Amino acid sequence: MQRTNYCGLITKEYLGQQITVKGWVHKRRDLGGIIFLDLRDREGLLQIVVNPEEPCFNNAVKIKHEFVVEITGMVRERPNPNKELKTGLIEVVANQVIILNTSTALPILVDDESANETIRMVNRIIDLRGFKMQHNIMLRNKLTFEVRKFLDSHGFIDIETPSLTLSTPGGARDFLVPSRVHKGSFYALPQSPQLFKQLLMVAGFDRYYQIVKCFRDEDFRADRQPEFTQIDIETTFLNEQEIRDIAENMLLMVFKKILQVELPLDANTGKLKVISHKEAIYNYGSDKPDLRIPLKFIDLTNELKNCSFKVFQEAASLENGRIVALRLPNNVKLSRKELDDYSKFVSIYGAKGLAYIKVNNITQINENGLQSPIVKFLNENELKTILEKTNAQNDEIILFVADKAKIVNESMGALRLKIGNEKHLLENNWQALWVIDFPMFEYNEETKQYVAAHHAFTAPKDEHINLLKTAPEKCLAKSYDLVLNGSEIGGGSVRIHQADVQAKVFEALEMTLEEAENKFGFLLDNLQFGAPPHGGIAFGLDRLAALMCNADSIRDVIAFPKTTTGQCLLTKAPSVVDEKQLLDLGIKTLD
Ligand code: AMO
Ligand code: AMP
Repeated sequence: MQRTNYCGLITKEYLGQQITVKGWVHKRRDLGGIIFLDLRDREGLLQIVVNPEEPCFNNAVKIKHEFVVEITGMVRERPNPNKELKTGLIEVVANQVIILNTSTALPILVDDESANETIRMVNRIIDLRGFKMQHNIMLRNKLTFEVRKFLDSHGFIDIETPSLTLSTPGGARDFLVPSRVHKGSFYALPQSPQLFKQLLMVAGFDRYYQIVKCFRDEDFRADRQPEFTQIDIETTFLNEQEIRDIAENMLLMVFKKILQVELPLDANTGKLKVISHKEAIYNYGSDKPDLRIPLKFIDLTNELKNCSFKVFQEAASLENGRIVALRLPNNVKLSRKELDDYSKFVSIYGAKGLAYIKVNNITQINENGLQSPIVKFLNENELKTILEKTNAQNDEIILFVADKAKIVNESMGALRLKIGNEKHLLENNWQALWVIDFPMFEYNEETKQYVAAHHAFTAPKDEHINLLKTAPEKCLAKSYDLVLNGSEIGGGSVRIHQADVQAKVFEALEMTLEEAENKFGFLLDNLQFGAPPHGGIAFGLDRLAALMCNADSIRDVIAFPKTTTGQCLLTKAPSVVDEKQLLDLGIKTLD
């Protein structure tokens, strides 16, 4: 018989009708001679009742968990409704039961919450049968579908770019593919289609998009995979604001359509909040601040520059030193042990200590009113300044770290997130924002070289082009990141479209003219053939989907993900290959 509908979609509308459903037996119970089956398909569960007097009962008796069956029967109201279930008001009384396939005992239960992730990944197919994974993968499908509709309706065209391409310097480590024909030469898998999409703008396609796999051989974490997917976008003739508007409208649209959520907008602009990179670091110690947490850094560097507490005074006097305080609201109580734990936590980021002042009685600005190991080192004026600047009230705790700015920002930034989450301070479910005006370059202390903060093709602010040679560290970029709940879900920029500016940026990155020609000749040449102004953005699709699914890791929105050591536990890739295959490629492995 043909299936009439999915199990999970049978509703009261079908009452009294004969239906046929097909699916997996999620559960089987025998109750006083009657067999109850929970039949499962991708849309949900449906209760089937098989009575002993029906001829099909003989088949039902043979059914075990995860058998694939076809059931035909009559939909009737359920005497004992199950409100938890979409189909909980009805059940199907079977008059035909066909076993389509049997199943041996499964290594893990479908939807087993207790199975650890390794076991789930080894048994990925069973894991994918569970409701959580089915929901996540289907939501991801809705997301890409809505994105395609949106971009198509805004004139973007989907153009494929190569997966076997050229290895170029900068960025993460490449995955390399040896060429059999050109022995000793390698293709690289693309870290992103960046240069191809720019060249497509030079070629006059005006608006490009692609939902595309990108490959980066970097250290993997919960939000990083060696291969991941971007919603990659590029347009001609638009400025930063105009490109951001398109990306923003797309984000607002998918949240509304798929989750029925209106992302909070800035009351003044009616758009997503925008903050500069400088502000983000100054106030939150991070270029991807989670604005659901209402804690903000309070900078006391100037105020305590000449204070009598040596630790603070020394940090504030460093060329790049900083003192930052976090004031916790009075509903946050910290035990001695928690303070010790937080102190250990900030030490992971190199902080030498975590000072605190607990305000017991604000009218007594000394050790009687302020409980703290550092009060004895500070005079009344200094304490007054701290209380005023932090605006602390009775029963509140102020935490401090003083050190080089990098250490202060990273440690207090991480502590802000930890306290915000552990003490349930999150004010909204969702907070999205743009971070703009990134610096062009970051200084790598190890190699003593400047590296591109976004990538080497990002345009500098017009008024900063002259700084490329003289003061690259002061040069700001026409770049922007989109941040959602503290996760960087997208990033892009206006690009350099003049070959001479591109050459200057390569120079700032200490690339010789010859190297630049050698590695990026195809870009530099084409920039000279009438390259239009252009720019774009790429969203991390996996990260966006993971947030929308409320998943802990992007692995939970990828059907076949890799472990943190880059393995696929299902297929066991990567694997050793035959000597013959290596010989063909002219490759010898080291023992
Ligand atoms: P970027 O390197 O910032 O920009 O990448 C864009 C977005 O991709 C996501 N992302 C990742 N997701 C999962 N695993 C990874 N390893 C990973 N790396 C990055 C992030 C990030 O914001 N070509 C430029 C875009 C442009 O300028 O248009 C680019 O690739 O969410
Ligand atoms: P000490 O005099 O070394 O015992 O330090 C007094 C307090 O200052 C302790 O609570 C330390 O945790 C704290 N402390 C020490 N170094 C720093 C620092 N760099 N930043 C913030 N607090 C610190």
